[in-house]
Amino acid sequence: MTAISLKDVAFSYGEGAFRMKNFNLDVEEGEFLAVLGHNGSGKSTLARLMNGLLLPDGGTVEVFGTQLTEKNLYDIRRQVGVVFQNPDNQTVSSIVEDDVAFGAEKQRVAIAGVLALKPRALVLDESTAMLDPRGRREIMDVVTKLNREEHITVVLITHFMEEALLSTRAVVMNRGEIVMEGRPAEIFERHEELLTYNLTLPRIGEICKKLQKGGLNVPDTLDIATLADAIERELKIKN
Ligand SMILES: Nc1ncnc2c1ncn2[C@@H]1O[C@H](COP(=O)(O)OP(=O)(O)O)[C@@H](O)[C@H]1O
Ligand SMILES: [Mg+2]
Repeated sequence: MTAISLKDVAFSYGEGAFRMKNFNLDVEEGEFLAVLGHNGSGKSTLARLMNGLLLPDGGTVEVFGTQLTEKNLYDIRRQVGVVFQNPDNQTVSSIVEDDVAFGAEKQRVAIAGVLALKPRALVLDESTAMLDPRGRREIMDVVTKLNREEHITVVLITHFMEEALLSTRAVVMNRGEIVMEGRPAEIFERHEELLTYNLTLPRIGEICKKLQKGGLNVPDTLDIATLADAIERELKIKN
């Protein structure tokens, strides 16, 4: 079953240049989808459309087979829980906003608050952005476990490329459109294209590039073991 389906969605805030049109995205049940995109590309708008905090101007949003309408918003919100980054730029109120503060513990509380409603899908809108690396890892462990063990559908909106690597599929947004789609490793191999959307490589991808520039014959890889083997091989040859 499709967990969340946006079909030919059109949306604008009325004023301003931001527009989504003919926007199509299916998130399958049990999927772990990463959504990447620079600031202003429309990621939070997408998150709000996914659980009815915003309604589309055109097209449809279906949640587990039911089209979202003004009448069933409450029901839909129980099925799709959204955890936001922090309240600073939220103009629409949600269940969890008030709970969200900086710190892994507070963020875990926010996730727990959403999970208490037993949603079938969880949308994390840059929920780890304010955390230190350890806090981010903790939250990612929780989310990965929920996906793998509880089969909760996850939509992870992030600008941390390392986090996107946990997903089974990633999409890149730019100006309200999906401009790239594929397995995260495939997406990261398209460095030049990512750069045009103001996105950078995961750290390990950057390291590969630097080693190559420094004259080591290592492949573009996101796998640490592969990189380690390549470096070892290179250094042995060079010694
Ligand atoms: N409540 C709003 N009213 C008007 N414009 C908005 C509102 N929220 C977001 N926008 C605009 O919509 C665009 C997309 O915003 P957003 O979805 O928050 O992007 P992202 O989450 O990728 O940073 C931006 O240009 C932003 O300024
Ligand atoms: Mg956002």
